[in-house]
Amino acid sequence: MARKNQTLGEFIIENQSEFQYSSGELSRLINSIRLAAKMVNHEVNKAGLVDITGSAGEINTQGEDQQKLDVLANDTFIRTLTNREIVCGIASEENDDFITIEGHKENHSNKYVVLMDPLDGSSNIDVNVSVGTIFSIYRRVTPVGTPVQLEDFLQPGSSQVAAGYIVYGTSTMLVYTTGHGVNGFTLNPALGTYYLSHPNMKFSEDGNIYSVNEGNYTHFPQGVKDYIKYCQQDEGDRPYTSRYIGSLVSDIHRNMIKGGIYMYPKSAKAPNGKLRLLYECNPMAFIAEQAGGTASDGHTRIMDLKPTELHQRVPFFCGSKNMVAKVEEFIQKHD
Ligand code: AHG
Ligand code: MN
Ligand code: MN
Ligand code: MN
Repeated sequence: MARKNQTLGEFIIENQSEFQYSSGELSRLINSIRLAAKMVNHEVNKAGLVDITGSAGEINTQGEDQQKLDVLANDTFIRTLTNREIVCGIASEENDDFITIEGHKENHSNKYVVLMDPLDGSSNIDVNVSVGTIFSIYRRVTPVGTPVQLEDFLQPGSSQVAAGYIVYGTSTMLVYTTGHGVNGFTLNPALGTYYLSHPNMKFSEDGNIYSVNEGNYTHFPQGVKDYIKYCQQDEGDRPYTSRYIGSLVSDIHRNMIKGGIYMYPKSAKAPNGKLRLLYECNPMAFIAEQAGGTASDGHTRIMDLKPTELHQRVPFFCGSKNMVAKVEEFIQKHD
């Protein structure tokens, strides 16, 4: 039972039995993520003072200009998870291919793979606006003790055993689910301890915030354009409020607390949208559903999609149930 102000460490131990396979391995894994997140938080907080803002000078596999903090966060999470031999494989937005961890321990038998967006909202680093980390955890499908294979990573979102995000914001929070609701923990930086501050987080069924990069409006499909106009109409509880930070983590976090919808549609410029199914959409969809919301690509439940490649992109509509249903209705009118 979640108790307000209990520490994340206490919470993990007390709720370990909720895990489908309670060997303690998943608890240790979440503990490692909490540790890596503290290290990244420490670096993010110093951005501007030390030379960690700006471009790292490389283009990542997504075709994006990698930021120094993208690289630093990626290295920190990979190093923490690898050194502790807590997983058998890692896939990251910042790496071309997945990483196999065979381990040095005798009978190395780790069962979980982690997929992550180590630093979400890169474009906000240099301007002191919230960024985040997103993680998604699956049980491998190939035999334990053998090297992981691509199929261990290309599982549908519905097979996730845990997912979460960290938002490095006005305060730093770790929000996660293991399929038994969503809980949010706030870091007390003086003590280095996360405390349960947001037990049982929920999306309201309706909301009044819509979040989309309206600069791309002309390139959106007609159904999305019509829905945006609907959000802006003066009728009933509309017009809705428009809020867009440009960090998926922060936009979803706000909408989960206040009620709203996040949209990254396909466009003429980006035929599959921008967001990555494995590192961004699936974990956020799992969290949204566990919080009573939904996530769709406009037609299909995100977590029902069968991934075909690691860095696959999909259109993404996520948030309050009735708002997502409404945008789907508009999109499907034009099919
Ligand atoms: P990342 O920084 O991990 O590459 O992700 C950026 C994503 C997401 O955080 C955000 O919602 C979206 O890109 C913003 O894209 P636009 O600038 O095109 O609106
Ligand atoms: Mn990126
Ligand atoms: Mn991202
Ligand atoms: Mn990223």
